Amino acid sequence: MNQVTTIRSATLEDAPQLSRVHVDAWRETYTSIVPQTYLDGLAYQTRTERWRRILSEPQPHDGNFVAEVDGQIVGFSGGGKERQYDPEFSGELYALYLLKTHQGKGLGRRLFNAVVEHLVSHGYSNMMLWVLRDNPAVRFYEHLGGVRVREQELELAGEKLPEWGYGWRDLGAVR
Ligand SMILES: CC(C)(COP(=O)(O)OP(=O)(O)OC[C@H]1O[C@@H](n2cnc3c(N)ncnc32)[C@H](O)[C@@H]1OP(=O)(O)O)[C@@H](O)C(=O)NCCC(=O)NCCS
Repeated sequence: MNQVTTIRSATLEDAPQLSRVHVDAWRETYTSIVPQTYLDGLAYQTRTERWRRILSEPQPHDGNFVAEVDGQIVGFSGGGKERQYDPEFSGELYALYLLKTHQGKGLGRRLFNAVVEHLVSHGYSNMMLWVLRDNPAVRFYEHLGGVRVREQELELAGEKLPEWGYGWRDLGAVR
């Protein structure tokens, strides 16, 4: 039977499911990239509270989106104003995660586009994002037209991890 797939804005009631997908996707994605102690410390309850805060007190230009398959959340994305006073980029994609079982079916592109459309509708013409250098997702972002423009280190559980910044200078050109 055909599955029903929806991309929609996240609501406060989504917090528990978002938390589960968030923690599970982090563990699936970052094992052997991020210190294991950090991954072991992730907890559904803490994440649910964090998601409740994010969704009940959103920053003015924030947009959060979920991918649902047959009513179950399997991924999410979010974006808004760039957070580190970058001299060139004003919008930022904050997060994009799918459970492994739902990758490679076009949902990543749709969640990415949801953030792009949200930013464009709020007057942003460009955006950037940060991704760990060792995450294979760097090639996904390159495939979607991102250009590597920045580098920094992210400290997690006492380890410094190289991160790359990707930029899109013309969001109007993103398909
Ligand atoms: C990265 C991620 C969001 C991509 O989503 P996805 O649903 O698997 O990708 P899609 O099916 O939408 O692919 C869209 C296009 O990108 C390409 N693509 C996807 N992953 C790719 C990769 N790792 N390398 C190169 N190309 C890739 C696809 O081939 C497809 O190309 P096409 O549309 O031209 O045929 C998803 O794999 C994921 O959630 N990964 C784990 C979490 C993660 O790393 N998030 C990023 C944190 S910064």
